[in-house]
Amino acid sequence: MDTARRGVPHGTRLAALALGALLLGSPAQADPDNYTQIERGRYLATVGDCIACHNGNQGSPLAGGRGIETPFGTIMSANITPDDETGIGRWTADDFYRAMHEGKRPYGTRLYPAFPYTYYTRVTREDSDAIFAFLRSLEPVRNPVDRSTLPFPLDIRLAMLGWNMLFFTPQTFEPDPGRSAEFNRGAYLVEGLGHCGACHTPMNMLGASRDSVALQGNQIQSWFAPNITGDPRTGIGGWSVEEIVEYLRTGRNARSTASGPMAEVVGYSTSLMTEADLRAIAVYLRERGSAGPAAPAPLAADDSRMRAGEAVYVDNCMACHTRAGVGVDRMFPRLAGSQVVQQEDPTTLLRVVLTGVRGASTAEAPTAPAMPAFGWRLSDEQVAAVVTYIRNTWGNAAPAVAADAAQSLRDTVRDQPAD
Ligand code: HEC
Ligand code: HEC
Ligand code: HEC
Repeated sequence: MDTARRGVPHGTRLAALALGALLLGSPAQADPDNYTQIERGRYLATVGDCIACHNGNQGSPLAGGRGIETPFGTIMSANITPDDETGIGRWTADDFYRAMHEGKRPYGTRLYPAFPYTYYTRVTREDSDAIFAFLRSLEPVRNPVDRSTLPFPLDIRLAMLGWNMLFFTPQTFEPDPGRSAEFNRGAYLVEGLGHCGACHTPMNMLGASRDSVALQGNQIQSWFAPNITGDPRTGIGGWSVEEIVEYLRTGRNARSTASGPMAEVVGYSTSLMTEADLRAIAVYLRERGSAGPAAPAPLAADDSRMRAGEAVYVDNCMACHTRAGVGVDRMFPRLAGSQVVQQEDPTTLLRVVLTGVRGASTAEAPTAPAMPAFGWRLSDEQVAAVVTYIRNTWGNAAPAVAADAAQSLRDTVRDQPAD
């Protein structure tokens, strides 16, 4: 299932970033009259993280052919270079806006929401035109992509008609006049081009984002994208604007590190955004409101699972994360008071312990510290115990984790390379 994964194996992350830089290099067929628009489009394509999904390693980071994992199967991303036959060379700016705004291809066929048009729908016509101008300026790359990889009956694009009727109406972004320009800019980025909710918002059984619980956390590709509302315990309510900006720009701050899919978001997208846009995102996340589960009572320290977990922790984890769980600033993340550790859903923790993890590498912080894998030396019971322990020590509180959760994640990630 290697091709079905979006996560870039970390060895290739730097190469991928170099490709990204290439994309950010000089345009091939830039029309000088449109130069500013193309430059804006290039930046907006970075904000929209197009490369993360359209990079199929076919000589161009936007030639498509990358498998995007969805709850229904793998969907291949399209070639969006201006090749006439296999890309969007024959598209007009109207066609492109219709794809972004309504999720429709020319002649009315429907796109799958694995292409996050349910968010891009809020992108303004002006920004859409700039992105289109940038895409037009790229070297056309011939790369035919097999776009029909879903099993019956989901392979019928017509089925998307029903999905759209249930879950999607095209939107335009309406700034809230009662809020600052910075807040509104952040809202435009988070709810639109940045499509943060595509990972952070819980989905219903048909894969549609549930707006009523926006940004409260969601399982994605065997990771858990945590609550990023202002909730003080499980969200980013305790983070300052500066801390959020630092995390998005460098992939780490004194509280947390970005791994897995978020390391990719940081590498391809947020680390390349302007300081003003990162601040706007931070202000919006902090001020838009908070929601999260009530804190459960922590397990007692003499609970047998806690005792077993403590023993595993002392032997295996303490050397880096310290006995008091405070870690080492920007090297080994703090576990005490950590949001990631206290999410209801323990997927990220199980995964990190089983497979190990390496954080984002960015221009500013190029060497990502790594955590070794423990899956080979700890049993499912020991993994569950140590995760239960870190979730209920040092003032943390979150539900205990059972051994079969560790076992089933072990089965899922078995043939995936360590992230
Ligand atoms: C989360 C993954 C993801 C991201 C991010 C993403 N795309 Fe896509 N995109 C896809 C997938 C998957 C398809 C194919 C959908 C289908 O076949 O119905 C697609 C299809 C498209 C199409 C339709 C092309 C065609 O021939 O049908 C366009 C245009 C497009 N994307 C543009 C963009 C742009 C521009 C960005 C960045 C602003 C972007 N995409 C970001 C996954 C993504
Ligand atoms: C492709 C999926 C994906 C997208 C898109 C995404 N995130 Fe994330 N995000 C994650 C995952 C997974 C984590 C958890 C990473 C970890 O635990 O190391 C995360 C973690 C975070 C955190 C740290 C939370 C904490 O408590 O440590 C912040 C802040 C964040 N994301 C903000 C954003 C913003 C803002 C956007 C949109 C610009 C965004 N994310 C888009 C998947 C995503
Ligand atoms: C050799 C040092 C080392 C050891 C030993 C170690 N870790 Fe880690 N751990 C790290 C590093 C480095 C990271 C951050 C990786 C990254 O950048 O995403 C990390 C990340 C984590 C995270 C994710 C935190 C976040 O904010 O995303 C958790 C949870 C965690 N470790 C738990 C454990 C547990 C439990 C053990 C013992 C079974 C352990 N670690 C052993 C170095 C270590």
